[in-house]
Amino acid sequence: IQENTILVIIGASGDLSKKKLFPALFGLERRCLLPTDFKIVGFAPDEITHDSFLSIIKSPIRLESPRFAEQLEQFCQRCSYVSGHEGGVKSFNALRRRLEQLGTGKKEQNRLFYMALPPSIFTSMQDGLRKHCYSERGATRIIIEKPFGHDLESSRELQRALDPNWREDEIFRVDHYLGKEVVNNLLVMRFGNEIFGAIWNARHIDNIEISITEAGGAEGRGSYFNGVGAIRDVMQNRKSMPVLKVAYLSCHGRSNADTRTTYNGATEIFFSGRLVHRKGFYSCSLAARDHVLLTSFQARVLDWMLPIEHVHTIIGQYGKSSDGEKPAFKDEQDVPNDSRCATFCAAVGHIENERWAGVPFLLKAGKALSGSLTEIKIHFKPSANATIFSTQPLPSNTMTIRVQPSEGVFLRINTFVPSLSTQQTSAIDLDLSYHGREIPEAYEVLLLDALKGDKTRSVRRDELDASWKIWTPLLRHLDDEDAETMRPREYAYGSNGPEGLDEFIASYQSTSSKGSSQGSPNGG
Ligand code: BG6
Repeated sequence: IQENTILVIIGASGDLSKKKLFPALFGLERRCLLPTDFKIVGFAPDEITHDSFLSIIKSPIRLESPRFAEQLEQFCQRCSYVSGHEGGVKSFNALRRRLEQLGTGKKEQNRLFYMALPPSIFTSMQDGLRKHCYSERGATRIIIEKPFGHDLESSRELQRALDPNWREDEIFRVDHYLGKEVVNNLLVMRFGNEIFGAIWNARHIDNIEISITEAGGAEGRGSYFNGVGAIRDVMQNRKSMPVLKVAYLSCHGRSNADTRTTYNGATEIFFSGRLVHRKGFYSCSLAARDHVLLTSFQARVLDWMLPIEHVHTIIGQYGKSSDGEKPAFKDEQDVPNDSRCATFCAAVGHIENERWAGVPFLLKAGKALSGSLTEIKIHFKPSANATIFSTQPLPSNTMTIRVQPSEGVFLRINTFVPSLSTQQTSAIDLDLSYHGREIPEAYEVLLLDALKGDKTRSVRRDELDASWKIWTPLLRHLDDEDAETMRPREYAYGSNGPEGLDEFIASYQSTSSKGSSQGSPNGG
């Protein structure tokens, strides 16, 4: 991390800052990853005192040891607050004065602005920051959170608003899923293990399921969610990213991809002799050229993905729970009675290239379901020898990459049950759980990246564009008031989703992988 860096959190009194950003920054403090002179400035419209600001920071943090309390005090000394209640130039000037004051006597000052803001005020805010608070004596970077626009056109509009103010290397587009350990691990798993490279294609894979299900409903975020829906909230960004990661990792054969382990245990991945990724406990910065090469592969795979067609989707909205205890989506404050917001979506995507042609990517995301689970499940084709050992067809192999809860990778294989009297087969899981390992929080990873200037996990603009192209036709169709077919199917809060879902998923799977999507390894 560069010396003399100030992180400014715009929207410092909001939920994201309270629940995620300050705890993550404190996490970096605990791991002694913040430079001594690193400062944090909170900026928000609320007129609050320094002490109330510190209570916002402290409230979600659990002090697990006396050492933590000491570190928390040290952390608070880095923090100060500027109220932007008057809005406009006056507020920006007040912020600039604070930044100058913190940089007094220093030759350079690097500034990082985290936009923890609703999209509606984002454009004017970034404009004001560029005009009044840009560092003339060091690097300035801006971090923006999804949703990056509403559809392809508005995403490009947002980009046009950023263009005159920020260079692409100054913009970090983040989604915390891209900071999750298991998502990052996909790259090393694919290239660090020869066995997977050989079978990672349509010849061996029947279908790939990617699910992000949540047990909770919109809970207090009804107004935000009603304007966004499950597709924009988690599918356009998050689904495309794991999909492309799984898929693009297969696009390059052994001939031009290679891995090496360095003396300090990091894994380095090379394409055509160039280093494109280095992964240790934390990824190290890549040279700009190498990063460009890596993300270009990703954007190319998204380009190969066909737009999602509405006939290959199921759209749902949750109603009350079957016992009537849990509210329907429409019971949320500020959600109109005639809301057609999709709180659930299952969709089927296809990648049109030689390696993936014919493999359905089954994408599912929703709120108020029976459990919270994020995982990628790769269903392999049935074994050609399946009938030698049993009169019943053997289940096909599956590889489950579980992002949360209980991160891990599981490979389901068929074996004999040890016995002298019978010859029974059974499917068991090779279990690569992260049991007991401390896994960094996604926001810690992303904030550290931005502080180091490492854009490996930031979404590039052409990736974003390609990803909107996949989802925009479906979103247009959903927004069309006359499209009766797109009225969401109601499902009960706490259920498995809309009626017909299992049949829908099964219709894209071969017989042997049907049903193996149910039941997760180790009861997770
Ligand atoms: C947020 C979405 O980005 O991620 C929420 O806006 C969602 O709707 C949340 O609930 C889920 O994050 P996690 O890390 O708890 O899976």
